[in-house]
Amino acid sequence: MESSSKSKSEKIMDIANKRGFIYPSSEIYGSKAGFWTYGSLGTRIRHKWESLWRDYFLSLNNNFYEIDDCNIMPKKVFESSGHLKNFNDPMTECEKCHTRFRADQLVEDTLKKDVSGMKEDVLTKLINDNKIKCSNCKGSLSDVRFFNMMFDIKVGAVNPEIMYLRPESAQSPYLAFKREFEATRRKLPLGLSVIGRVYRNEISPRQGFFRLREFLQAELQIFFDSDKVNEHDDFDNVKNYNLIVYFASDKKLKKISAKDLNEKLKIPKFYVYHMVKVQQFYLELLNIPESLFRFRELDESERAFYNKIHFDIELNLETLGGFKECGGVHYRGDHDLGGHQKGSGEKLEVTIDESGKSKKVLPHVLELSFGVDRNFWALLDVFFKEESERTLFSFPQIVCPFNAAVFPLVNKEKLPELAEKVFLSLNKDFDVFFDDSGSIGKRYRRQDEVGTKYCITVDFDSLTKNDVTVRDRDSMEQVRVKVSELKDYISKN
Ligand code: GAP
Repeated sequence: MESSSKSKSEKIMDIANKRGFIYPSSEIYGSKAGFWTYGSLGTRIRHKWESLWRDYFLSLNNNFYEIDDCNIMPKKVFESSGHLKNFNDPMTECEKCHTRFRADQLVEDTLKKDVSGMKEDVLTKLINDNKIKCSNCKGSLSDVRFFNMMFDIKVGAVNPEIMYLRPESAQSPYLAFKREFEATRRKLPLGLSVIGRVYRNEISPRQGFFRLREFLQAELQIFFDSDKVNEHDDFDNVKNYNLIVYFASDKKLKKISAKDLNEKLKIPKFYVYHMVKVQQFYLELLNIPESLFRFRELDESERAFYNKIHFDIELNLETLGGFKECGGVHYRGDHDLGGHQKGSGEKLEVTIDESGKSKKVLPHVLELSFGVDRNFWALLDVFFKEESERTLFSFPQIVCPFNAAVFPLVNKEKLPELAEKVFLSLNKDFDVFFDDSGSIGKRYRRQDEVGTKYCITVDFDSLTKNDVTVRDRDSMEQVRVKVSELKDYISKN
């Protein structure tokens, strides 16, 4: 296919495959949908996003920490969490070729209408009334039924035990809560985050990199005293901040101040405060344009089974045809600690000190949940640009795979040696790439295509003047900068 006739998604995927951002896992054996490898550049970008996330969200409170845990967990964990019973997606199957479809997505794609939260009998009726057939062979589709998305796994050689791959990272902090409460400062709020892999047996992973079967989540579970849900020490500092929210009730996008969301719509201060911090993460740290960001309120029929208040974090992604969920702010109440307390028989209540008096509480949980892979794809989507002569990713420097690339103009007359020196002077403080092959024009194009912010060329003048040409990725402007001032130049711009 000619490059110009390809969709944006195909163009990005071509670069992603070719340059080592992402590619299908186990590719040489024919890959399975929903499993992907992060290549060398993709791993760099993802790690930078993860570090940014970690530094930002863990610094919201001096009692927030990160933990790490196993991916395989006992059945009882998911009986208590409710996942074995409730973590289901609606499925329909072709009666002829037996292809399975996620029923809500199939109906949504065919009828172009929002069907989130619809029950199986309503979906079945929509399929029948609208004569929706199998997209593979035009066969008839079965009644819709629910399919549990947990992956089970046999553990042990003799009488193996069925264990499960975790479907969300969140369970780990719930199970670790009591220990961490004791190990830290015996104070609430206590935040425990995990960045890790999770597994869901998605019925029909689709849209390339969006719905995966093995993926990463970055989640922060904040345990707090529910009597203080309408309090936050720092709320006054954010009360006039305008949140961008798409409301479930009237299906309208509005800007609403943190104060109004709290006072008029009765969303508790503790919740609203963290919405502000999430929006600032996207708009101020990641430079996501305001028009591409929104929270979407979910009504009762759409919310996950454990949530009391639920706003999704959505980004408008052209490659995926509009606003898509990349995360969520979930008020999970005491569903999780309550469930595990009952299921394990272990007391998960804790004693806290309140104005000199001790008080027993079973903390509630506010969860900030992010799909790392979706956020990664969002960076590719939002920052991809096509110009007549080149394609580029205009990533903010904090997530660029390389801050700079260093080139000797030619491979002779001491230029490679000087370029190497410049490279070594920068590579402890920045991610720097060295390239001495092909014309300078080609080297620029290669770096643009992976989103490197600066290209530094060492030329003949550099030998006498100790300066280099620095070319900016976005403006393509070139300036001469003293080698001794390069570090400042890269960090400041
Ligand atoms: N602990 C809460 C939880 O897991 P979720 O809405 O099911 O909530 C959180 O998932 C985030 O994980 C989503 O907002 C999305 O970004 C990401 N996610 C969910 N399913 C996914 C999938 N199949 N592939 C990639 N990312 C997914």
